[in-house]
Amino acid sequence: MFAERFEKKETIDLRKRYIGPSCKIFFSHDPIKIVRAKGQYMYDEKGQRYLDCINNVAHVGHCHPDVVKAGAQQMELLNTNSRFLHDNLVLYAQRLQATLPDKLGVCYFVNSGSEANDLALRLARQYTGHTDIITLENAYHGHVSSLIDISPYKFHQLSDAEQNQFVHVASSPDVYRGKYRADHPDPATAYADEVKDIISKAHKKGGKIAAFIAESLQSCGGQVIPPVGYFQQVAQHVRKAGGIFIADEVQVGFGRVGSHFWAFQLQGEDFVPDIVTMGKPIGNGHPMSCVVTTKEVAEAFMTSGMEYFNTFGGNPVSCAIGLAVLDVIEKEDLQGNALRVGQYLTSLLEKQKEKHLLIGDIRGRGLFVGVELVRDRLKITPATAEAQEVIYRLKEQHILLSADGPHRNVLKFKPPMCFTTEDAELVVEKIDVILTELEEALDLKLNHTLTAENESNKRKLLTDENGHSGVLHGKGSRQGSPQQTKQSKRLRT
Ligand SMILES: Cc1ncc(COP(=O)(O)O)c(C=O)c1O
Repeated sequence: MFAERFEKKETIDLRKRYIGPSCKIFFSHDPIKIVRAKGQYMYDEKGQRYLDCINNVAHVGHCHPDVVKAGAQQMELLNTNSRFLHDNLVLYAQRLQATLPDKLGVCYFVNSGSEANDLALRLARQYTGHTDIITLENAYHGHVSSLIDISPYKFHQLSDAEQNQFVHVASSPDVYRGKYRADHPDPATAYADEVKDIISKAHKKGGKIAAFIAESLQSCGGQVIPPVGYFQQVAQHVRKAGGIFIADEVQVGFGRVGSHFWAFQLQGEDFVPDIVTMGKPIGNGHPMSCVVTTKEVAEAFMTSGMEYFNTFGGNPVSCAIGLAVLDVIEKEDLQGNALRVGQYLTSLLEKQKEKHLLIGDIRGRGLFVGVELVRDRLKITPATAEAQEVIYRLKEQHILLSADGPHRNVLKFKPPMCFTTEDAELVVEKIDVILTELEEALDLKLNHTLTAENESNKRKLLTDENGHSGVLHGKGSRQGSPQQTKQSKRLRT
């Protein structure tokens, strides 16, 4: 087997020539050529090892031998569509269902997160007889037409984009930068009430809500953790209007949050979505995905009279791989590892927050962690260029991390679940050095005491010698205007 067929330069040239220019590459001015991977490490053509902090698809570790073996063995024996009886399909559906609340008992197997979400919309519309969808600000749910329509993360990038009249966008339940913040007495209710208002407005215009869709924790949207109780209240409003709740677990499912197998379970036992969509980690890199729903929704879909057929969905190879992934999660206690290492990583990052003014917020569950960088903690001015600098400098030191969110200023950790405490220490040590240098360049000092010009209207932040911050939030204090700072020449915007 060839690890490398072409010199790197030739690969770049061929890619430019034959691959669509909108298919972007990481680190475009100096892309990385990866030729093999194992566990939480990726290796370039020169054998240089990179620590992977971003590939949540390689959930149980890159090229896990059990998963590779399960796929290869089944491929040697049979691969065909689900119109033939096969035990792998039913066995996998049974195993997957056992991880979910009883109510969620019917599976449809598809091949990508986009296909899963597109099918979820069809199911919702068929079940409810309604058309309108409520989605969240900064959400991304996939690349097909139906999902670009409900993905503000994408459609906001188009200057002449017209929002689909059936789509309603609710505020992201972000208690750090959003409309209602941590100081609000009840942000869950405040954000959910906004959904209620959206429903009333839609009704006044003759619209009817088919579904509310949200990632259980927003990923591209900036590693947002919705306040507990938000989903319950939203589900209540949406169901009252005849709609259903779709939880997109494409990024965050399969034990990543540590304390639970599914991220929607962070909201509490009393919350069960009507549809859950899954992708990325489900096949550890093999293209498979799934939609799980209730018997009622599945039966309504049946009444349309249209057969659902998917050539590759639920084939014996995919199901063998899916089973192996579940086995490895269990055998290696990767959910437990996500909890332990995630907590450790978060605690290390919290210490960095005490030290670095550039860190505005640390938030996460398990091995899904965000570090929001800000130029000014008071005005929460996004430190976009600084976040990019951190990413580039880490890459130079062979650590792969990314920055996302609407301002691309949130460092995003979602590594393979075999990530270790040593890996966490290494990446945090490197971030510490980079932030120290950036802060020197920006003249950000911990002994600065920053106060708002108008304390009644803006957030007030006091830093003590150790950099501990006391943040008070004022009403209406959304994002402040960019602060003029000395900019490091090294910063790449
Ligand atoms: C939350 C979420 N849903 C759906 C998708 C679409 O998945 P895919 O790229 O497999 O079609 C993505 C992809 O990034 C995603 O992040």
